[in-house]
Amino acid sequence: MGFSRVRFNNFKNLEPREMRWSPGLNLLTGENGAGKTNILEGINIVSGWGPLERGAKTLSMPTWGSGSSEVQLTGELESGGIIRVKISRRYMLRLDDKSVTAADLRWNIPVLTFLPDDMSIVEGSSAFRRRLLDMLLALIVPSYAMRLAEYRRGVRQKAVFLKRGMPAMIADRALLPLAAWIWRMRIEGVKLLSSCLEGMSELTPVKITLSLKRGGAGFDDDCENDYAKAVIANRGREAAVKFPVVGPHRDDIIIMAGERLASEALSRGLRRRTAIAMMLAAADGVKRKIGRDPVLLLDEVTAELDSSGRTLLFESLLSRETQVFAATAEPFVEKFPGLIHRVSEGRVTESYEN
Ligand SMILES: Nc1ncnc2c1ncn2[C@@H]1O[C@H](COP(=O)(O)OP(=O)(O)OP(=O)(O)O)[C@@H](O)[C@H]1O
Ligand SMILES: [Mg+2]
Repeated sequence: MGFSRVRFNNFKNLEPREMRWSPGLNLLTGENGAGKTNILEGINIVSGWGPLERGAKTLSMPTWGSGSSEVQLTGELESGGIIRVKISRRYMLRLDDKSVTAADLRWNIPVLTFLPDDMSIVEGSSAFRRRLLDMLLALIVPSYAMRLAEYRRGVRQKAVFLKRGMPAMIADRALLPLAAWIWRMRIEGVKLLSSCLEGMSELTPVKITLSLKRGGAGFDDDCENDYAKAVIANRGREAAVKFPVVGPHRDDIIIMAGERLASEALSRGLRRRTAIAMMLAAADGVKRKIGRDPVLLLDEVTAELDSSGRTLLFESLLSRETQVFAATAEPFVEKFPGLIHRVSEGRVTESYEN
């Protein structure tokens, strides 16, 4: 399950050439600015996830100076299906010449993407931990992404009320069932991740356990009652900060290493290994729920792993028989057990195995 070929036309610095991939591990290597992340981004888009959220504001996608604003991305699946994405003023997605939604694509070709920032999932901002959970749930619960988007619109609306000093009760009435539903899904998602982490003891010597901390809440086990009680308890605070502080947009995953918080108990290298274990757990969770291995896009996630951590990662990836695209500027390719693609100035110049 994965991509056999892709072709990008007028997309960033990539030359419009066919790129062929191994069904197993693919390593994209090359100097800074070669186009490795752009290739991952193109694959992310043909999988229904849209452009990558890089640190900087997403720049325009058409090749600079090309004079054309239309971008075309094509992905051929190992199953034979062909995905075509046309981006001009809006997105047009087609699978085998039928118009489809981004959710249809994600269902047809489940992909999980991890960016360099995800390596600080243990100690970094809670947004990284929510992102992992949301990516997992979007692949295993068909309506999750849509409901989350609806919830976020509701939060923005509530923020407008609060900014204007208006009562937020009406917004809360609309948000309550969505928030409660998202919490229930996330509780299940965290349980799934936790249970998948149990098979990762080589990467994480200390037992890692996860639990969901509901944003601004925790007054009642029942999710509906919890939201209702939490907004009453936080009414004054929300009015003061003029922003909603209750709800899934403020959730966090508490990561414990044994009896202590992983962010405090683990060394930097072990936190990186735990991050890798959580990514693999998400991939296993998808497999467990939908019976298919997701394709993994890994951008610079091997940085800061020692050579045994790297070997463990490659071995775990190999044992999963999943398609992987890993990008790195680091020169460790001698040990890579898959197809290595050298990327230079927007094209794959050679592909070889060790
Ligand atoms: N719309 C565009 N048109 C042409 N070139 C672009 C466009 N957007 C970005 N680029 C260029 O694409 C180049 C490659 O970027 P990319 O992030 O893929 O590099 P990389 O190989 O991942 O490098 P690194 O090792 O630094 O992560 C950048 O130098 C950037 O200037
Ligand atoms: Mg890059």
